[in-house]
Amino acid sequence: MTVVLLSTFLLFLLTTSRIHSEDLNTKYFPENFLFGVASSAYQIEGAWNESGKGESIWDHFTHKHPERVRDRSNADIACDSYHKIKEDVALLKELGVDFYRFSISWSRLLPTGHVNYINPDGIRYYNELIDELVANGIKPMVTLNHWDLPLNLQKLGGWTNYFLVDIFVDFARVAFENFGDRVPYWITFNSGCDVGYGTDQPPGINQSGIAEYLCVHVTLKAHARVYYLYDKEFRKTQKGQIGMTIDGKWYEPKTDAKEDIEAATRAREFLVGWMMHAIYHKDGGYPQVVKDRIAYRSKHETFPISRLPQFTPEEIDYIKGTYDFLGLNIYTTNLVSDREEDPFDEPSYEKDLRIEVTQDPSWPTSNADWLKVVPQGARNLLNWLKDNYGNPPIIITENGYADKGQLDDTGRMNYYQLYLSAVLDAIHDDKVNVIAYTAWSFLDNFEWLDGYTQKFGLHHIDFDDPDRPRTPKQSAKMYKDIISHRRLTVDLKEEL
Ligand code: NOJ
Repeated sequence: MTVVLLSTFLLFLLTTSRIHSEDLNTKYFPENFLFGVASSAYQIEGAWNESGKGESIWDHFTHKHPERVRDRSNADIACDSYHKIKEDVALLKELGVDFYRFSISWSRLLPTGHVNYINPDGIRYYNELIDELVANGIKPMVTLNHWDLPLNLQKLGGWTNYFLVDIFVDFARVAFENFGDRVPYWITFNSGCDVGYGTDQPPGINQSGIAEYLCVHVTLKAHARVYYLYDKEFRKTQKGQIGMTIDGKWYEPKTDAKEDIEAATRAREFLVGWMMHAIYHKDGGYPQVVKDRIAYRSKHETFPISRLPQFTPEEIDYIKGTYDFLGLNIYTTNLVSDREEDPFDEPSYEKDLRIEVTQDPSWPTSNADWLKVVPQGARNLLNWLKDNYGNPPIIITENGYADKGQLDDTGRMNYYQLYLSAVLDAIHDDKVNVIAYTAWSFLDNFEWLDGYTQKFGLHHIDFDDPDRPRTPKQSAKMYKDIISHRRLTVDLKEEL
């Protein structure tokens, strides 16, 4: 309770007062702290059908429904990173990053999704990328699945089909066997069940209140199986680490009314805890409030049992503790208030959640409506994860700011300084075990349904030029400076 009130107060202070350069935390990052940048396969690789690559759900969707992407674009070419290994790694080297987070395109490696045919060019491409990184002293951090499931597997139901657990294990084995000798960090999933399965964003299952929970359930089992595969068969020789990434936000109660505080707890447990509790909490399984709410509404909707699948006690034990680190994507904060119980007319994730979400209009904004600059929220979320999950090692796997792609990207520079300062506060003052930080993104890229209208890159790309030339932005220079000094070194560009 005290923690909640204190953080509300801090948030209040933060949002009502301006931030000045002298407020930045200029302490050093811990000695072994790692800095990186991130990307994902579909967003940057291009070469969508080259050299034997199969079709992914995003290839299929953007070709079939161009009208659903804001600028009617797709990632057929994107940043063309498939053809630019040397150029990209040279830029990474220039930045001075310790690691590079990228994802494997499952359909490039296994065009049908299955292991009966392994595409030699998929093996070649990722081997070359990894070798080039290693040769330049950059550690590969590899995500196995970042939203771009092979279309074939989606036709089988995607992450609602339990058989995908075995199929994912097969895929992971191919990745570990071929690349694992040079990969110190593996991320099984970049979470995404809420949008992909509850809405019409690809794969667009759009069966809210049912499909998200099936997806989470299967994903958690698949994660655990792959963890044990790595742990039992590869860890000893390959000596890497493995975890899961949650694409998270911080949820702050809008007022200090009891109902709003409870609503914010529900938001955290439904939107973060539903993926993390089973793996990272000492009790495992789903958070109590998630189980209670879904069971309650299911009953009133005349379902004989809860819409939330149940784990057996053995499964709870099996999944619990299957991590070496916790991966966290954090961008922004939402304010949460309670809302009235909806009629029990249909299954719905939103109705299970029963919250109203807003943002404070005074928060500095970015080019993306949803992304407001609230560094204290990142600190609060880090503290919440520490307090709830026994202070696991945390890798911030994404953090970043959207603008229109200009080279003089003051907004992004401010954002990184403020968020890194909050991370330093969390490390030094709150003793949160943050071990690494990843800026999203390495390059301007295809931002899913927003196409190329939102730019997150440290490097500009001219998407009108077939050669896709890269140019470092001011923020790249600043990030390089921070990495080499291991602390924040320059003043804020403008007082926020
Ligand atoms: C999280 C996702 O993992 C990434 O793919 C996306 O581009 C960023 N959020 C920005 O929205």
